[in-house]
Order: sequence, then structure tokens, then C-alpha cells
Amino acid sequence: EKGGWSSFMAKEVSEEPDAVANTIRGRVHDGQVVIPELDGLDEIFTGIRRIIVIACGTAAYAGQTGAYAIEQWTRVPVSVELAHEFRYRDPVLGDDTLVVSISQSGETMDTLMAVKYAHERGAKTLSICNTQGATIPRESDAVIYTHAGPEVAVASTKAFVAQITALYLLALHVARVRGSLPAAEAADHVRELEAVPGKISRVLETEQAHIEQFSRWMADTQSVLFLGRHVGYPIALEGALKLKEISYIHAEGFAAGELKHGPIALIEPGQPVFVIVPSPRESAELHKKVVSNIQEIRARGARVIVVAEEGDAAVLPFADEVLHIPLAGPFFEPLLAVVPLHIFAMGLATAKGLDVDQPRNLAKSVTVE
Ligand code: BG6
Repeated sequence: EKGGWSSFMAKEVSEEPDAVANTIRGRVHDGQVVIPELDGLDEIFTGIRRIIVIACGTAAYAGQTGAYAIEQWTRVPVSVELAHEFRYRDPVLGDDTLVVSISQSGETMDTLMAVKYAHERGAKTLSICNTQGATIPRESDAVIYTHAGPEVAVASTKAFVAQITALYLLALHVARVRGSLPAAEAADHVRELEAVPGKISRVLETEQAHIEQFSRWMADTQSVLFLGRHVGYPIALEGALKLKEISYIHAEGFAAGELKHGPIALIEPGQPVFVIVPSPRESAELHKKVVSNIQEIRARGARVIVVAEEGDAAVLPFADEVLHIPLAGPFFEPLLAVVPLHIFAMGLATAKGLDVDQPRNLAKSVTVE
């Protein structure tokens, strides 16, 4: 049921704070992450030497986002792969490899086949899934359920933030077991994670009307670019995917550092570019570099829409639109920065008169390879 909402997607975006909060619930004890479903698996977590994350679509971008924190906190090397590419390259796998699959539906055939393949070759498999009892968790050695609630709109929104949350919980659980992170530092991350739902609510309250307004002005836009760096990079990819999926607009996400190696040739007067700006407090060096990217594209006439931390004055002179997100610790900005991008995709599709819940050619869960 849509409740009073204009679409399931609008309802599900409004549920992003709850999706995060419900995924955390019951998994934090005295400032430490203990995931009851992973009880008895300590030996696996201490024995692994490699983590491979596999997924498709939005779930793959959640994986790419979570990978930074997993590697940082556990000190286990992490790679992320599209599930349908994974098994066609004869990957090196063994019992020291943990394959983490991510799937909202738990039924995506590409992901399921990759999980089975990994299992047959002796890897340990753990799935992150939003659907109780689905096929992928049944085929996996372990599962962490995201508690985002049923997601009806084809384009995934609340499941995305829940997936990143689950990956952070997994990272903190494994880090505790491996002793790779001082307890005080882990507790800081837990506090940051627990503060995310309130901060997402704030983004929804302060930015929704503003974004809907300028997305109406952009209804005739032919192409939109998204730039991000570090954890902001997969968020740029996710912003572009959402726009393709429901607005049928050409959209591409780039790593901001890659701009000068090619994409800058696309910039012409009036080209809208979203830039996810890293926090000036948490990553001063990256922040400076991204601000200089903004200057480069602005000088070529781009229409720059920045997603920046509240109080980031450095971006103001170069931005046509500023979307603010609250201050957050390292790794937690993506959970906030993605929210304006979800609202924007929805606003633009609505402005074009499209059905945001049932985009053409797409299915909620793709059960063929
Ligand atoms: C696609 C959906 O086909 O599958 C995307 O259109 C989704 O929205 C992707 O992200 C993966 O789905 P799931 O259920 O495996 O997370």
C-alpha cells in the first residue's frame, strides 16, 4: 500500500531512515557490533585472506561503497565485481576467500549463479539480502538480512542504504573478531552509523522541496553527469543509474580524478554535472582536488550541482545549486549523499510525466541470466 504517497518510490525514499535503523537494530551491544546470525563463524572470519563482493545494479554500487570500509577496518583485501562477469573469468578461489553477495530480492539469477559457482570452488559464501528465505541466502553459508521492509518500486532506494548499513555492520563484526580495529575506534563508527537515520531524515526535510523544484526546471535535459571520489564515486554511479532507470535520460558517473583523462571533453555550456564533494574536515586533500575539478568544469560552462557538507563554504562560489548534507564521519557521507540523488531522479521522472514505479523494460527481480 502506498499510504498517502504519490508512488511506491516516494514512499520508499521516505523510509530510508527506517531502513538503516531497522538494519542496525539488535546488532549492537555495548558499542560493539555482534551480528547474531554470524554466531559460530569466527573461524571463517579469522581464516580469510580475501573478500570478493558480487552483485548487480544498485546492489553492486552498495558493494562498491561498502568495500572501502571493509578493507579499512578489517585489513582484508576486498574487490567488487558484477556477478555476471565474475564466473566467466575463471577466478582464483579457495577456502580463504569470502564471497559476499548482495541482493535485495535474493532471486537475481546472475547473482545466484555466481554464488553457486563460488561455493562449488570452495569459497565461503555470505549473502546480504532483503527477502527472508529467498534462494540466494538459502544457497549461502551465512546471511545478514537487511530490514528495509518490502521494496515495490523497481528502482532500488531504501534497500541500497540498508545494504551499505549491513556491509558496515559486517565490517565491524569481522574487525572485532580479527582484532583489526581498536574497540574505541569501532565504537566511534557504531555511533556514527546510529546517527545516520536522523541525518537522512534531515536531508529529506531540508532538501526535498528544493530538489523537486529544480528537477522540474530540468525536465528537458538530455544528459546529466555525476562526479565523485573515494566513497563518493559509487554514489555518482548510483545517481546516474537511477536517472537512466526511471527518467530515461543519458547519465554517466565518473571518478572525479578521471575527468582530465577523458570525460572533461563532454563539458559544454549548460551541461548539468552533479558533484559529490568529500568532507573538508574528514578529507581535506580530496576536498581540495574535487573543488578544483568543479572550477575546471565551471570554467567550461557546466551547470554545477554540488552535494556538499553543511558549512562547506569553499564550493559556494562555483555552484549553481547546493544540496546540503549533515556532517558525518568518514565512510558515512555516502548514506546521506545518495538521498538527494534518489529524490532528483524521482523529481525528474515525475516532471517528465513518467511512471516512477514501473519503468519501461525493467523488472524488479531478473530471474534469467
Ligand atoms: C535489476 C533491478 O534488474 O536488478 C535493479 O532493476 C536492481 O534495480 C538489480 O538493483 C539487482 O537486484 P537485486 O534484487 O539482486 O538486488
